Amino acid sequence: PAVKSSCGAILNSDRIDGTYANVNWDELGFAPTPTDFMYIMKCSQGQNFSKGNITTYGNIDISPCSAILNYGQGLFEGLKAYRSADGRILLFRPEENARRMQMGAERMLMPSPSIEQFVDAVKQTVLANKHWVPPPGKGSLYIRPLLIGSGSVLGVGPAPEFTFLIFVSPVGSYHKDKKFLNLVVEDKSHRAFPGGTGGVKSVINYSPTIKAVAQAKDKGFSDIIFLDSTTKKNIEELSACNIFIVKGNAISTPGINGTILPGITRKSIIDLALDFGYQVEERDIPVEELIDADEVFCTGTAVVVTPVGSITHQGIRTEYKIGAEAVYQKLHATLTGIQTGRIEDKMGWTLEV
Ligand code: COI
Repeated sequence: PAVKSSCGAILNSDRIDGTYANVNWDELGFAPTPTDFMYIMKCSQGQNFSKGNITTYGNIDISPCSAILNYGQGLFEGLKAYRSADGRILLFRPEENARRMQMGAERMLMPSPSIEQFVDAVKQTVLANKHWVPPPGKGSLYIRPLLIGSGSVLGVGPAPEFTFLIFVSPVGSYHKDKKFLNLVVEDKSHRAFPGGTGGVKSVINYSPTIKAVAQAKDKGFSDIIFLDSTTKKNIEELSACNIFIVKGNAISTPGINGTILPGITRKSIIDLALDFGYQVEERDIPVEELIDADEVFCTGTAVVVTPVGSITHQGIRTEYKIGAEAVYQKLHATLTGIQTGRIEDKMGWTLEV
């Protein structure tokens, strides 16, 4: 029977309780699967977002003249919902994504939802698509909030109308079938520059990486490591995640300086590493130190914590420690334990939907 959920969407009651969508959960990678519902909220320039709705998932109507299509006035977020072994659905630090979207909106001259509106919209969207949250251990529901200039412009300027939208897709591993990454240091193109938008989750940060990553993949690498665009000496991040190096008891990652994306997994790993007693440093990391590290790993919502097996720089390949004894294993196990409800959440990071 059809019932009205707390989010106002008409749902089929036998699909929201304990049943699953028809998905081969063992084959999930990181690709879009159309789900049932999405969330949409609009507002005019100079106004605040007020009321959004859950609506059927599908294509959206957008002017060919919209600011997002012509000038890339847009941001996105990424977070995940996990199903715990006892049947709960847990979000991981959604208010951090809300805060980061607000920061980005300020940079891109857009209005943004309040933290409460953002978190409530995420909860409603996950609830409406509850049966797409993979079974425990089979992956997660990737949640993609978008904030876009949907109104028409012709000259470069802010859109007259903005749309906040959330869609979801069940996902497995970002680097499916890879236990570790083989990276190459990119020395021709850069991801970000001082004064640019590298430090916020603007849509315009990502398409410039596509060609360099595709070229690296053609040569058998998994992804690239960008260098800073000023000195070309320090490492920044990969195309879609942050990077950490381990040397002895010290764990280091590039500091948040405007060109580094302030990852929520990055921040959580720093807290967990400090809690484990490691010395954690956020600072410039010259490429020589990367090469000299014992271990290298990447963090992000999509990649979680992924170890790096090798890095090639100027034609020379260096291998890094991977496996059960490596530091990233402990951090990965603790992080995913908290996210999926297997480990007590002393940090207060999870939120039940
Ligand atoms: C995420 O980890 O959620 C990201 O935003 C990376 C994305 C480009 C797949």
